[in-house]
Amino acid sequence: MTPPTAVVTALQRADQQHLLAFWDRLDEPAQQAFAAQLEAVDWHVIEEMQRLAAGGSHSRDLSVDLSTAVTPPCLRLGDPKNSIQPIDARHRGAEALGAGSVGAILVAGGQGTRLGCHGPKGLSRVGPLTQAPLFEILLGKLVAVRRRYGRDVPLAIMTSSATDADTRRFLAEHAWCGLDPERVFIFRQHDLPAIDATTGRLLLDAPGHLAVAPDGHGGMLVALAETGGLDWFGNQGAEHIVSFQIDNPLAMPLAAEFLGYHLLSNADFSTQVVRKQAPGDRVGIVVSCDGRHCVVEYSDLPEALAAERLPDGLLRFHAGSIAVHAFAKSFLDAAAARHDSLPLHLAFKAVPYLDGQGNRIVPTSPNAIKFERFIFDLMPLAQRVCVVEIEASEGFAPLKNPPGSASDAIEHVQAALVAHARRLLAKAGVAVAEGVDVELAANRIIDETDIAGLPIADTVIDRPLVIGG
Ligand code: UTP
Repeated sequence: MTPPTAVVTALQRADQQHLLAFWDRLDEPAQQAFAAQLEAVDWHVIEEMQRLAAGGSHSRDLSVDLSTAVTPPCLRLGDPKNSIQPIDARHRGAEALGAGSVGAILVAGGQGTRLGCHGPKGLSRVGPLTQAPLFEILLGKLVAVRRRYGRDVPLAIMTSSATDADTRRFLAEHAWCGLDPERVFIFRQHDLPAIDATTGRLLLDAPGHLAVAPDGHGGMLVALAETGGLDWFGNQGAEHIVSFQIDNPLAMPLAAEFLGYHLLSNADFSTQVVRKQAPGDRVGIVVSCDGRHCVVEYSDLPEALAAERLPDGLLRFHAGSIAVHAFAKSFLDAAAARHDSLPLHLAFKAVPYLDGQGNRIVPTSPNAIKFERFIFDLMPLAQRVCVVEIEASEGFAPLKNPPGSASDAIEHVQAALVAHARRLLAKAGVAVAEGVDVELAANRIIDETDIAGLPIADTVIDRPLVIGG
């Protein structure tokens, strides 16, 4: 077949005709698939990408004057010195969960490049004893919430082209990890083409395929709005929505106390942070500047500022962002209605491509620019932001890197899960013998109060055991 006229016209207008150089080499199904990929390209976004690549400024001013920025006041989980009492927060959060007015978004797209996974990260079996996959652990937390508060938490799961089919298959084969499929909404984020860093032209990674990458966790906003997900949440009765990421099995987005702080402070946007310890820790930081909060990526924080310490020894910028957020739904609706809510960020990357003769080139240094949107860029748009500091050991154990890496590999994640389980058992008065591994059944145990009723109370655990399993 010949390329569709609309595609040819769009490519001519955008000066991207080179993309059809190998059209005649494709069989018809490949031509159809490629035509569909080209038809889906939003050329306005490509123009915006080229403008940014040429040094243009963002559609919304994202600049932060770090010389005057400070770490914003943080409420600390369980701290009676907070301006809102932990017990009041827990009551308010529990009330919202019991009323069924909280929804959740699990961010499970991306590509898992660092981990080197070919498919969803959510299938990684991180359970220290059960080898439960991340999906089972994280969806299990919603099952535990339903068990305790008597109401479902409607859940939207964001996938990417790399994770969508396998995620749907896994959930169907595993009875939705105990959730009601009617209360789960799966939606796919967009891909964005990479562009050649020198020419601004789109790249092919195969004769009939553009080099693309997922549009970042911020892609959730536009994809959720486009697929009817925001309306779905409305129909499910969600007035507030938490978001969390598939690669953190310790995440506690539905902790009643966190939700309570969000609600009692009337925040549009709340976020959990952990205390950044070392200047080189690779986490973004939450800062406040001119009355606005925002997240600054670690790569944008100059070394000298990252190392600056306050008189009490704390890093000046110590509020490490862990991508666990809560939003008022009305805030997300308003943000989705703006065209400039989430500007594109660019990163120079080595992207394999086809040269003019169709040879596949695998560059060893950055040759292209990839673009992403970050959900935390909504923060400066919020009227009220609530920052809640949690202990990393309680709520942050990300799986990022392959086994054997110095940090954030499966062995670190599993050790963190075991340590967390041991601490919760100790709080519940259950002793665990030295060196014995224990794991909490995520769909049963939210905190130590769920352990108190189990028959293990007043015993010493001296062999590996799944608590509540
Ligand atoms: P990361 O930024 O660590 O990306 O994502 P990643 O795709 O998992 O891994 P790398 O960077 O390629 O090695 C943090 C979380 O955000 C999600 C991921 O699923 C993960 O839970 N994410 C990331 C998306 O859903 N979409 C994206 O485009 C990027």
